[in-house]
Amino acid sequence: MKNIRNFSIIAHIDHGKSTLADRLLEITSTVTKEKMTPQYLDQLELERERGITIKLAPVTMRYKIQDPKSEFQNGSTHSLSRVSSRDKSQNQNPHDKNKFELRTLDFEIEDLGFILNLIDTPGHVDFSYEVSRSLAAVEGAILLVDATKGVEAQTLSNFILAKDQNLKIIPAINKIDLPNIQIEEVEKQLINSLGFGKDEIFRVSAKTGQGVRELLAGLIERIPGPVRDEKKPLRALVFDSFYDQFKGVVAYVRVFDGKVKEAAKIKFLGTGQESEVVSVGYFSPELKEKDSLTAGEIGWIATGLKEVSKVRVGDTLSLSGEEVEPLTGYKESKPMVFAGLFPVERSDFKLLKDSLEKLKLNDASLSYEMDSSPALGFGVRAGFLGMLHMEIVQERLEREFGLELIISSPTVRYKIGKTSGEELVVSNPSKLPKQTEIKEIMEPWVKGSIISTKDFTGSVLELVNSRKAKVNNIEYFGEKSKISCELPLSEIVSDFYDKLKTVSSGFASFDYELADFRPIDAVKLEILVAKEPVDALSQIIPKEKAFRVGKALVQKLKEAIPRQQFEVSLQAAINGKIIAAERIPAFRKDVTAKLYGGDRTRKDKLLQKQKKGKKRMKRVGKVDIPQEAFLSVLKI
Ligand code: GTP
Repeated sequence: MKNIRNFSIIAHIDHGKSTLADRLLEITSTVTKEKMTPQYLDQLELERERGITIKLAPVTMRYKIQDPKSEFQNGSTHSLSRVSSRDKSQNQNPHDKNKFELRTLDFEIEDLGFILNLIDTPGHVDFSYEVSRSLAAVEGAILLVDATKGVEAQTLSNFILAKDQNLKIIPAINKIDLPNIQIEEVEKQLINSLGFGKDEIFRVSAKTGQGVRELLAGLIERIPGPVRDEKKPLRALVFDSFYDQFKGVVAYVRVFDGKVKEAAKIKFLGTGQESEVVSVGYFSPELKEKDSLTAGEIGWIATGLKEVSKVRVGDTLSLSGEEVEPLTGYKESKPMVFAGLFPVERSDFKLLKDSLEKLKLNDASLSYEMDSSPALGFGVRAGFLGMLHMEIVQERLEREFGLELIISSPTVRYKIGKTSGEELVVSNPSKLPKQTEIKEIMEPWVKGSIISTKDFTGSVLELVNSRKAKVNNIEYFGEKSKISCELPLSEIVSDFYDKLKTVSSGFASFDYELADFRPIDAVKLEILVAKEPVDALSQIIPKEKAFRVGKALVQKLKEAIPRQQFEVSLQAAINGKIIAAERIPAFRKDVTAKLYGGDRTRKDKLLQKQKKGKKRMKRVGKVDIPQEAFLSVLKI
């Protein structure tokens, strides 16, 4: 079959992408009705549980137009309807494959069979990196908008992503089966804010299937087929990958030029890694083998490689010995939130390292480096795209790799000028030299730009100013505004991005790059639990904040740390001087004491519950400190 359409579905979270994908899988008989479960492409356990898409998911569907005339006609509110008059006048036999032609089509359908490659994408802003990779592999996108909600933040930002890639975008209003919806209102938004024509917009119910066949016909008609030159030297874009025990690293690819098949010698241009292809195939959505992958197709290549880091997402793959220009990949993702990840069991560090390496292959936006802390042992300092991403990574590490982890507060790197003339870089507060040896502490600053809409510029500015920012410029482009500013990295590492989304109702986007190091009047705020300093709770912070934060922290810790068999003192100190203190009174921990009589099962249950409650505790000295305590630093 030579007709191929490569497309994605993009939308704000919960607008119904995965449900629409379900209908497409059904209509194309890719998945039988019996096998179909809602949100079929969300295969990760976490995705199913939370009802959200985290990973992009490709699938190849085969679709044969049975009755072209009626299928293209049904979209009567769309441009497709224009087809009908001409068809009628020509009295064309709809089954006459070779002669069938639509007025709005820029191609002739010689063969009514189509290969439709869909890449389902996540909607949450933290995962827009997945979206941008999906979009680099396709020619078009369905922009799905919930009829009850209208255009929302991610609708807009995904729209911009797709536009930047020059994709053909097909707008569709979803959930038209619901009562009390204002389709015209949503239609107006699509026309006025995104510039679509009224007759371009489809109306569907991904739930009931209403209008979905018409949408399918519409995408076949409007999304251009890929340019397919099998004679050119191979060039394929790696847009995702995972590790398989038997196949080695499996790369998800979009082939742009040429052809690749089993036993071919291939080379990854970015890493220089070479290997021999074990097998190739397509997504059904399970992996299915086929003879070859050719220009225009989306599929997978099993590389046999054991080292996951050699296959980089965004890299270009070619045949060994052929000289080709690499395809344009995607911008590297930028971490927005940083935190330390430490195994509860110190001996699990190697497992953590191995697991992260595997997870990184599946989640290209994850970045990390080794870290160590006297209180928490060996761990990593990781960068995430947002708070949700951080939560998901932690959960995946725990579920898929059986780890138990503590997340600690994020810090940045400081440059310390010593009185001796020496200069050192410190990210862990415990490594800070004595106050008397410090001449100067410098902190990293970033240059940032925030794009939002006019309406939100005021509240965004307020947020930025509360973070010690220097605003350099405010520009307006139509409805949009761009604030250029400089601010300390420490002000953005934890909740800045989430706050920005809140104050702008999700409309603002943020980009930054490291600028330079600037002096800061900072001190080490030390936290002592039962007289033991706990470095994971300590931090380097501006002097003017130290008293307030120290006080708030010991109060928070008092709530978060459970009573122990003995009294526990909590202290905040600066240069050895206690600035705030609290105490947790002793507690006899016989939880079953109140259970008289011999109800064994109840007693067991209670003990079980207590055991569970102990999870994610880290013993520091004699005290068990729960995860919440480490996170409380993040929240102050
Ligand atoms: P993410 O992948 O997390 O971004 O969400 P999504 O866009 O894939 O949305 P999903 O398909 O998971 O749908 C979200 C919710 O809307 C689910 O409860 C669906 O059952 C429901 N839904 C989707 N389409 C329709 C529709 O056409 N009508 C109605 N009534 N409900 C729908």
